[in-house]
Amino acid sequence: MSILVTGGAGYIGSHTLVRLLEQGESVVVLDSYDNSSPEALRRVMQLTGRQLEAIEGDACDEALLRRVMHEYAVESVIHFAGHKAVGESVQKPLKYYKNNLESTISLMRAMREEGVKRLIFSSSATVYHCEEPSPHTEDQRLGCINPYGWTKFMNEQIIRDCCQADGELSCVLLRYFNPVGAHPSGLIGEDPNGIPNNLMPYICQTAVGLRDHLTIFGDDYKTHDGTGVRDYLHVCDLAEGHVCALGYARAHKGCEAINLGTGTGYSVLDVVHAFEKANGIKINYVIGPRRPGDLDENYADPSKAERLLGWKAQKTLEDMCRDGWNWQKKNPKGYRGE
Ligand code: NAD
Ligand code: UD1
Repeated sequence: MSILVTGGAGYIGSHTLVRLLEQGESVVVLDSYDNSSPEALRRVMQLTGRQLEAIEGDACDEALLRRVMHEYAVESVIHFAGHKAVGESVQKPLKYYKNNLESTISLMRAMREEGVKRLIFSSSATVYHCEEPSPHTEDQRLGCINPYGWTKFMNEQIIRDCCQADGELSCVLLRYFNPVGAHPSGLIGEDPNGIPNNLMPYICQTAVGLRDHLTIFGDDYKTHDGTGVRDYLHVCDLAEGHVCALGYARAHKGCEAINLGTGTGYSVLDVVHAFEKANGIKINYVIGPRRPGDLDENYADPSKAERLLGWKAQKTLEDMCRDGWNWQKKNPKGYRGE
């Protein structure tokens, strides 16, 4: 029996593969390499000393999904595959609705046909309505402000409805807060295409000299120092959350939405200063205007994850900054440096 990991060559997928292989699971990855490289999978195998099966293909292809599920006796699916750039989703909404919705529908149909009953889905904290206060609890009102967010919202609904229709299904919707950092080995990490949108990769690229300076998007938010507050989570803690969710899905039926965050919010300036302290590097920054759509603060109530999954984030902001930088300096051009 094996676990199908769609989008397994990506940032969060590759870190989760390490934990799955370390646990002795058999894994088959389906990835189009649309936003990743097979090199990530080679490094996962190097890191763990274990083999995995890798198939290049599209998670929207139901026939392919069925073939893979059948051939590898798939018992559970972890579905990471999807597009994730918020700004691009505003420019090209159909690209996002097509890929992110069609992949989930194809997957659920293939699972039904092949009798696969367990699914772990990558959702996001972005599904919480912007008027709902932090810390976010899973029962708060949902609502989104961009097409990317709506794809997560709609995928959650599709999966919930499938669980309603089939009492044998077991699905966990993991709402990630802000994954950052990298595996401590520096072998795998985040490898954004072009100019990064997110804070930590931008800081790392500034530190390595790829960018001249960081622009802090606004210092007039209602936070302790005026800069935006987020719930940064080490990607290895996040990976562990998937292993815990898989254990939960194996023991329970139904559908649960669960936050994965630390529960602690840090501001942009907190992160800049923690990065400087952890790595002994000065980060050039300027204060710029607010980024449209940004909130003052966004952090999780992670108590449901602890209660249901027995999961709690272990790593500190310092760990996130040190490991993120270790990856960046060893791989200044990401996997493309190979
Ligand atoms: P990523 O882009 O690094 O990984 C996604 C992977 O899916 C890539 O390897 C890409 O090539 C692949 N892919 C995309 N469409 C595909 C398709 N149709 N068929 C096969 N493969 C396909 O992104 P990530 O940061 O690892 O995110 C993983 C998941 O978690 C995504 O669904 C993302 O929306 C979600 N998520 C990410 C964050 C974050 O901050 N990184 C936060 C919340 C949720
Ligand atoms: C962004 C997405 C969100 C997604 C999340 C995780 C937007 C509007 N939101 O949110 O939908 O779920 O990533 O992938 O894109 N910052 C700077 N300078 C930078 C980059 C970021 O000051 O160059 C600030 C931001 O204003 C924010 C904080 O750093 O206050 C974190 O930004 P980011 O990493 O993009 O994450 P989110 O804003 O949480």
